[in-house]
Amino acid sequence: MHAVVYHGPGSKSWEEVPDPRLVDEGDAIVRIDTVTICGTDLHILKGHVPTVTDGRVLGHEAVGTVEEVGPDVRTVGPGDRVLVSCISACGRCLYCRGGRYGQCIGGGGWILGHLVDGTQAEKVRVPFADTSTYGVPPGVSDEQVLMLADILPTGYEVGVLNGRVQPGDVVAVVGAGPIGLAAIVGARLVSPSRIIAIDLADNRLDSAKQFGADIGINNGRDDPVSSVHEMTDAPGGADVAIEAVGVPETFELCTRLIRPTGRVANVGVHGGPARLDLDVLWIRDITVTTGLVDTYSTPTLLKLLTSSQLDAGRFVTHHFTFDQFMEAYDVFSQSAQTGALKVVLTPDGAG
Ligand SMILES: NC(=O)c1ccc[n+]([C@@H]2O[C@H](COP(=O)([O-])OP(=O)(O)OC[C@H]3O[C@@H](n4cnc5c(N)ncnc54)[C@H](O)[C@@H]3O)[C@@H](O)[C@H]2O)c1
Ligand SMILES: [Zn+2]
Ligand SMILES: [Zn+2]
Repeated sequence: MHAVVYHGPGSKSWEEVPDPRLVDEGDAIVRIDTVTICGTDLHILKGHVPTVTDGRVLGHEAVGTVEEVGPDVRTVGPGDRVLVSCISACGRCLYCRGGRYGQCIGGGGWILGHLVDGTQAEKVRVPFADTSTYGVPPGVSDEQVLMLADILPTGYEVGVLNGRVQPGDVVAVVGAGPIGLAAIVGARLVSPSRIIAIDLADNRLDSAKQFGADIGINNGRDDPVSSVHEMTDAPGGADVAIEAVGVPETFELCTRLIRPTGRVANVGVHGGPARLDLDVLWIRDITVTTGLVDTYSTPTLLKLLTSSQLDAGRFVTHHFTFDQFMEAYDVFSQSAQTGALKVVLTPDGAG
């Protein structure tokens, strides 16, 4: 089969690799029908995730059809359409028993396209298939469900739920890429009074408004701290700031955007340390949360998708076929020029 293979920082190719085989008794082999690229894949290609080694097949988001299952797999079988989630869960360890699948210590967690071969391929081996895949409900497209493999649970769990967004809150979302937009969509579910999107790119701020932000601030032109303070009640500041970029400046900005008792929910993947000005912050009763997505919200989000309360399809801006994978990476990585949010690839290019 063919797959996107990582060959060290800056190097990848769509090349021939051996077909995956069942290894453990709980594995499934899934034929990939729809797959996408994540901002985290771009971090890997920049060398920010050294645990990804030369020869690894990338990708941790897909919808596919089960071809084969190991003897321990009970709930999925050949022919089933499944969502392959970015997080695998052994289902048995302490963390999995608490719904914290991202921290699984039984061999799961974020492993696909990281520690084991991933989904940017014609087929993938999915470990712990019973507890790491979700059946695709009737009446929703593969493409919509694909958005639940990573971005929507990430924005909702690590942004909205960790940030404890309450009805009536003012929410600032820093970074309006797919993850920030997913946080905006997730925040809308709990009726905040105002969502303020902050980004350096005007096209991303336009998207943020289409996805439910009330106000966009370009922090390359305007000072977001004074703007947010001016538009909120005294003493000024957002109730929650969601960091969806992953650089020190934006994390530090979030700590300045919130009011006393406010929350900073960090979602971005950081490649280096960031500053925390405790000398100023200690007295303000603030909360800072971090997190790798667990995907415990996936069943909830699937219900919202089937009842049309969530429109996931609008994240998809570009379609490609598998043999155009390198072009898809270029378009996705040059989003300021291309306007790409999520790019979707299918074997024959059918959307
Ligand atoms: N915690 C998790 O479980 C998890 C899961 C998936 C992705 N992520 C991370 O979330 C982050 C966002 O992902 P994405 O796919 O949306 O990335 P992206 O690169 O598509 O979007 C980032 C956005 O931030 C904006 N930006 C960059 N620098 C900025 C600055 N200084 N001020 C304001 N805006 C700025 C960019 O213009 C862009 O719109 C990444 O770091 C990604 O790795 C985390
Ligand atoms: Zn991802
Ligand atoms: Zn586990």
